[in-house]
Amino acid sequence: MNQVIETILTRRAVRKYEKTPVPRELLEQIVDCGRYAPSALGLQTWHFTVVTDRKMLDRISAANAKLALADPHTPPVLREEAESGRFDNFRGAPCAVLMSGEPGRQFADVDCANAVENMALAAESLGLNTCYLASFVFCLLGEQGAQLRKDLGIPEGYTPNLALAIGYGADAPTPAPRREGCVNWVE
Ligand SMILES: Cc1cc2nc3c(=O)[nH]c(=O)nc-3n(C[C@H](O)[C@H](O)[C@H](O)COP(=O)(O)O)c2cc1C
Repeated sequence: MNQVIETILTRRAVRKYEKTPVPRELLEQIVDCGRYAPSALGLQTWHFTVVTDRKMLDRISAANAKLALADPHTPPVLREEAESGRFDNFRGAPCAVLMSGEPGRQFADVDCANAVENMALAAESLGLNTCYLASFVFCLLGEQGAQLRKDLGIPEGYTPNLALAIGYGADAPTPAPRREGCVNWVE
């Protein structure tokens, strides 16, 4: 099968990782593939923050666990994880690329999403696994997230929106069931 198509069809979200670090040259290639994603008007309204410091990922998860515990609407399963200290937005991955959108740009979220998917496919083709993430973002937003954004080096005014956890999966993902429907043709 064509390799690009095979990568698209076999990529799955992986939520358990080995501790093995991802070599820097692979991360550089992956981020480069993100930079080549299509963006509205070619404006590339994104910023990439590559985090290989697991302590920083733990800090983000701990801040989100605190928010989850304070929110009466947090589902019981998440509350239990937060209480036990096992809450990890990054699913044990050794690194993640955090995306942030340029202020005032209508399509910044879309541009960032395109970059995430490009990186996911690039990582997969290099023998890595990934998980697309949004739920890490809460503790990074608004005034409450200002210090973390600063410590992460996110440019002033940019809004974190999505991330990609990257690593060597600890479990082989099951193949996706065939996806059908939701298409109509006008011929
Ligand atoms: C915008 C977006 C946000 C997501 N956020 C999370 C997340 O916060 N945590 C998580 O474990 N998975 C997250 N996912 C992964 C999806 O749950 C996953 O892609 C979906 O279940 C389909 O599985 P697949 O990727 O294996 O095909 C997110 C995916 C997308 C596109």
